Amino acid sequence: MSLWYIILIILSVIILFLLIFGLPRKKSTRSPNIEGLDRPEVAKAYDKMTDILPFRILRKKIISRIRKLNPSGRLIDAGCGPGNLIVQLAKEFPTLELIGMDISNEILERAKIRATKHERKIEFKEGSIENLPFPNEYANFIISTFSLHHWINPDRAFQEIYRVLKKEGIALIFDFRRDSRKFYYGFLTFVTKIVAPKALKNVNEPMGSLKSSYTPLEVQELVSKEQIKDITIKPMLAWMFVQINKH
Ligand SMILES: C[S@@+](CC[C@H](N)C(=O)[O-])C[C@H]1O[C@@H](n2cnc3c(N)ncnc32)[C@H](O)[C@@H]1O
Repeated sequence: MSLWYIILIILSVIILFLLIFGLPRKKSTRSPNIEGLDRPEVAKAYDKMTDILPFRILRKKIISRIRKLNPSGRLIDAGCGPGNLIVQLAKEFPTLELIGMDISNEILERAKIRATKHERKIEFKEGSIENLPFPNEYANFIISTFSLHHWINPDRAFQEIYRVLKKEGIALIFDFRRDSRKFYYGFLTFVTKIVAPKALKNVNEPMGSLKSSYTPLEVQELVSKEQIKDITIKPMLAWMFVQINKH
């Protein structure tokens, strides 16, 4: 490899690093966006997109976070979408009882198809996080990824999560943070305008999700309104983990 080639690679890495970490965070007001995953063409396009590399990397991150929390018993994936995460969890945690739930029947059907390709049994339930179709203290673990920004009544959703969690249970919510560094706004504009399938472009996704997400501070305020005492928010580059422990 020539010296110039090595210098070019080093310079590109430095520029990328400066772009990611050097640009300031975006300050904007929240614009809710219901992208309509219950529409067949949107559900199909989202299902396809979740198989691409950035989604897989994020799922790995989420799974490694779940592993650190040592889950056992019954886990609910609330807003499970096309089921990529829950199917992966079935492989990684063979003793967990797994339930995927989602408000959209269209996307749940896709999750069921994905799950049938695997040997582990996964239960699926249609319902809203704002009125969870489970009794009190039913789950040891509730995970929810990229769904929080869709919830019409997040106060109610957090109450429901807390109600359904068993004592000593944990809820882990992962979502975009709207105050991401500007690099990610640029990146998601590119993905939305150029890379995303047409059905997603038409509903301004994934950019719409970023714009309709919350900031860590807003989530802290939302959860504090409820009787939830033990909450930890881990803000990251363009996303955040919200962990609720029930005692
Ligand atoms: C962007 S998708 C994320 C899907 C999946 N969790 C993932 O990480 O790929 C958001 C999901 O949340 C679901 N959703 C939106 N509002 C909901 C609610 N109130 N209750 C349950 N699911 C909801 C949508 O139907 C959709 O499947």
